Amino acid sequence: MEPVTRRNMLRAGGALGALGALSVAAPAHAQSMWTWSAKGSVAGTGAGADPRWVWDSEADPLVASLIERGDVPMVNQLLRTWTKNGQPLPAGLPADLRDFMERARQLPAWADQRKLALAVDFNEKRGLYLGVLYGLASGMMSTVIPKEARAVYYSQGGADMKDRISKTAKLGYDIGSVNAYLPTGEMIVTAVKTRLVHAAVRHLLPQSPYWADVADEDIPISQRDMMVTWHSLPTTVMRKLTDWEVPIPDDESAAFLHSWQVGAHLLGIRDEYIPASWSEANSQAEQVLDPILAATPEGVKLADILLKLGTPIDAGLLSKPILGAFTRFMLGDQIAGWLKIPREPVWDPLLRAAWGPFIAVREGLLPFPLAPKAYWLFDEFLRKAALLFLSEARPISIEIPVTNRP
Ligand code: HEM
Repeated sequence: MEPVTRRNMLRAGGALGALGALSVAAPAHAQSMWTWSAKGSVAGTGAGADPRWVWDSEADPLVASLIERGDVPMVNQLLRTWTKNGQPLPAGLPADLRDFMERARQLPAWADQRKLALAVDFNEKRGLYLGVLYGLASGMMSTVIPKEARAVYYSQGGADMKDRISKTAKLGYDIGSVNAYLPTGEMIVTAVKTRLVHAAVRHLLPQSPYWADVADEDIPISQRDMMVTWHSLPTTVMRKLTDWEVPIPDDESAAFLHSWQVGAHLLGIRDEYIPASWSEANSQAEQVLDPILAATPEGVKLADILLKLGTPIDAGLLSKPILGAFTRFMLGDQIAGWLKIPREPVWDPLLRAAWGPFIAVREGLLPFPLAPKAYWLFDEFLRKAALLFLSEARPISIEIPVTNRP
């Protein structure tokens, strides 16, 4: 007889079984009704279907077929040479894949080059904060997004988090670089490759007995999940910059949003789910992101791995307490508690007391002579951490997986 698990209880479909199963997994199931209107999207219209039940109807069957045909190693090898947006696709790709990629690499008709150029200014001016926020607010938040934590943990990349982080950091680096969407940039390539990776994960993960045992879904990475993760990136970053009172001109803030709207489209998210403005983004995030954050055993393990990434450099003596304190400071005590991050007697109070003035000094809102030395310590540390992160990101090639975590 099959062992009784939450998943096969759900499968069995009996009301009692389902109820019992749901109560075991209450936080991870806390999914709200989808009431967000497509009128607030970049498309301005849409059927209003809950994206929980929408995946990627073009990429998913194609990549499943590549995996089944055994074509992936050859495709990965060819795609390693495809790095720049303006570069033709390499010769020798299977025809169905080439046709799809030619379509998938096109910018949407609503992409606005002027806004994308302004986003570059924003990214340059705010690069330091963005590095920290992507890494410690968005990155750590991903460990308390239950479906993402499970998907990452049980997929191939979960076994080598350092490599995975570098690949994910590449997207953050590419979207913020000077030529992100220009022919000499790499963001279109990165996004299209990532779309293929996600399609592969949708095919592979359901075959993992470990994932199947804990997941409360049959196919991972729905369009709703994509938007959840999207909100953990630009929406969370903008919320934090606003909390910290970093002065940002309206047009730059809109440009930053635009660069992520285009990114979402290239990742395969339908235009009817991509918010058209920050207020629409915030209202969607309140519905899909905020209520679902929860601890999972997989997320706790991933967070621990992330916090220890600096260990080879300093034996964890400085980096782990500082990264832990930053996580608590950015995501709050509740999430830090879920992730079992210890309180830091030196760093926690220092961040609470000094971060506001540090921002004010950097933004020229507080005169330099009033700034104690500790503020410049932050600057120095953050700059080094961001550089390390980004330099790791550059030579990395994003590849389609063919297996799950063993
Ligand atoms: C892979 C970014 C949403 C799960 C990747 C990669 C990037 C990326 C850059 C390639 C790195 C690699 O190969 O390791 C994003 C962005 C998202 C998003 C920008 C949304 C805007 C999601 C969601 C899930 C997810 C919602 C799960 C619920 C995964 C998994 C891999 C992956 C499992 C493959 C790891 C592997 O086995 O190598 N993602 N992702 N992603 N992503 Fe996402």
